[in-house]
Amino acid sequence: MAETVVLPGPASEDLGRSVADKLGLPLLGAEFRIFPDGESKFTLSDKVSGKNVLLVQSTHHPADQHLFQLLLASHQLSEEGAKVTAVVPYLAYARQDKQFLPGEGVTLGFVAHLMRSAGVRRVVTVDIHSAEGLALFSFPINSVSAIPSLAEYVKEQVAPRDPVVIAPDFGGSKRTEAFAALYGAPFLRLAKTRDRVSGEVTVAGSRLEVEGKDVLIIDDIISTGGTVRAAAETVMNQGAKRAIAVCVHGLFVGSAIDILEKASVKTIICTNTVPGVFSQVDVSEAIASHLRTIEE
Ligand code: R5P
Repeated sequence: MAETVVLPGPASEDLGRSVADKLGLPLLGAEFRIFPDGESKFTLSDKVSGKNVLLVQSTHHPADQHLFQLLLASHQLSEEGAKVTAVVPYLAYARQDKQFLPGEGVTLGFVAHLMRSAGVRRVVTVDIHSAEGLALFSFPINSVSAIPSLAEYVKEQVAPRDPVVIAPDFGGSKRTEAFAALYGAPFLRLAKTRDRVSGEVTVAGSRLEVEGKDVLIIDDIISTGGTVRAAAETVMNQGAKRAIAVCVHGLFVGSAIDILEKASVKTIICTNTVPGVFSQVDVSEAIASHLRTIEE
């Protein structure tokens, strides 16, 4: 059987090492550099011909740079005879999975095409934004769920009493329902709308059974914080005791953390698909156990 090695990219050093540890696989010798003018460079220092390489690289901010590093490394690995699986814990552009306004590009489809052209044979990601996004890949892609790990962590470490689980919008319902089912808690969905031009988020008013409750707001991504803020303000205005934000990918762009604090979000919990201060939940075992099934 071909030897498998792991290459943690600069965006996912710790997570990549942790996946390698869990699978008992060696790391590959390589160097990623950024020149002062912003150009990227990739240099391999080990032979890879005939090997399977698990290239672990999230594509959070700076998204284009991290994506380009992934493409560059994959291209070189393939040129030198390796079979590349791209493990992309946070997959940038996954929200651009359809044309919302005339003239817009379906950028995720283009990203899939770039990966394929760069020699990626398979992609493994964590909680892709939508199932539709998977269909834009003409080669194998799997999305591993971090929801069981998040539910377990919240139960053990935050231990809210008698909580209500809330999806801030229709798109996140399935994910949130799965969380609520694992938790054994009631599930509610808010009717969020986003202005496609300004990006502004609003939640349509409806009466919710949240009075005196701890509310867990579950989302795949926190970016500007606008979605969770709208959900938190809605439940706090209806008498909720605490708003707790739980997400897979914590991007926290600009003043997102401030925005959430001002909206009375008491606790924020994310996974380490994107490294950061709130990335308490480790997804390396979820990724490793999925990779074991592929290997088998
Ligand atoms: C949108 O459909 C996503 O699931 C997230 O709700 C969204 O990307 C969060 O972005 P922001 O924090 O900027 O509202």
